[in-house]
Amino acid sequence: SKPGIILGIETSCDDTGCGIVDTEGKILGEALHSQHLTHLRNGGIIPPLAESLHRHTIEKVVQDALDAANLSINQIDAIAATVRPGLPLSLLIGTKYGKYLCKKYSKPFIPIHHMEAHALTARMFDRSIEFPFLVLLISGGHCLLSVVENVDSFLLLGESIDDAPGEAFDKISRRLKLTNLPEYSTLSGGQAIELAASQATNPLQFRFNIPMIKYKDCNFSFSGVKNVCLHHLFREERKYDLPPDAVLPDYKNLCASFLLVTTRHLCHRVQRGIEYVAKKNLIPPDKQTLVVSGGVACNNFIAEALKIVCDNLNYKLVRPPPKLCTDNGIMIAWNGVERWKAGIGIYTEFDNIEIEKS
Ligand code: KG4
Ligand code: ZN
Repeated sequence: SKPGIILGIETSCDDTGCGIVDTEGKILGEALHSQHLTHLRNGGIIPPLAESLHRHTIEKVVQDALDAANLSINQIDAIAATVRPGLPLSLLIGTKYGKYLCKKYSKPFIPIHHMEAHALTARMFDRSIEFPFLVLLISGGHCLLSVVENVDSFLLLGESIDDAPGEAFDKISRRLKLTNLPEYSTLSGGQAIELAASQATNPLQFRFNIPMIKYKDCNFSFSGVKNVCLHHLFREERKYDLPPDAVLPDYKNLCASFLLVTTRHLCHRVQRGIEYVAKKNLIPPDKQTLVVSGGVACNNFIAEALKIVCDNLNYKLVRPPPKLCTDNGIMIAWNGVERWKAGIGIYTEFDNIEIEKS
């Protein structure tokens, strides 16, 4: 296939990212600006604020990636940008800037689906992964289990019927006021809960039932366990009669109990998915691979548990390094590369390509 260099732009949520990758899968340059701390101070993402931060940083992030690669934009073969799904205001900044660069420098434009990019990045990191493979995407905005049949063909097996797991981690961490403690002050909700849970003395102090245990599909649910967790928290607070800013004494055990039930749920649904794939013969025995990605995949406890499930069912577990699991520009560039190599979805006329919310 034709060699090339693709520049990718990601602005679907709260990270402004740019990555430059060649058709060999070599990362030539990258830059990432995270809005995490700003949104943490506000207790959540305010879309117009995210938009304005993207607007102010996009040009510099793209230039930084080019500088890191020691390339000028003329040496780029095509520009890829996330067009769906995401926050519309945020998506528009990256999509518009990508199209603007394409027009100015006469480059083709490659529109990218954010979740497909998460799924395909594993193939850049591990060249042995061939289609079809199974993917579990778990992040702050998404939760899905899918068979990746090809570059642009995904078979959805299940998704969350309510919250995403990262969203539940973030809410509980915020409600526990973990960021009031110095050792947690810069961590995301999921990272804070993982750290607290690792220091727990009794992960079984709080009782949770595994969600959807009776449902024979591959869907997920996190809002029920989240509410049970918040209920435990409320009861404990009353028991201790705490001042407003204090953190609950048993918070480490509560975090561990919550992480445990979340992990058991994820493992249970993945096992169901693998059994379904086997029954329908969707993946040949020699290609049985589960890719886990998205911000929540950075959790080592969850990854180790999934590894046990995979080992038992003869699947290979692949987890890209954390910087490729969370939102970044490299995964968008790599998805551009996959499309470039396959000759799919590359546009020289792109005025009519619009962003899409879902
Ligand atoms: O993929 P990502 O950067 O953005 C999207 O949500 O698309 O994921 C961010 C999410 C946050 O909810 C964060 O709390 C969660 O990933 N996260 C984790 C960990 N690190 C980040 N969740 C569990 N354990 C972690 N170690
Ligand atoms: Zn993401």
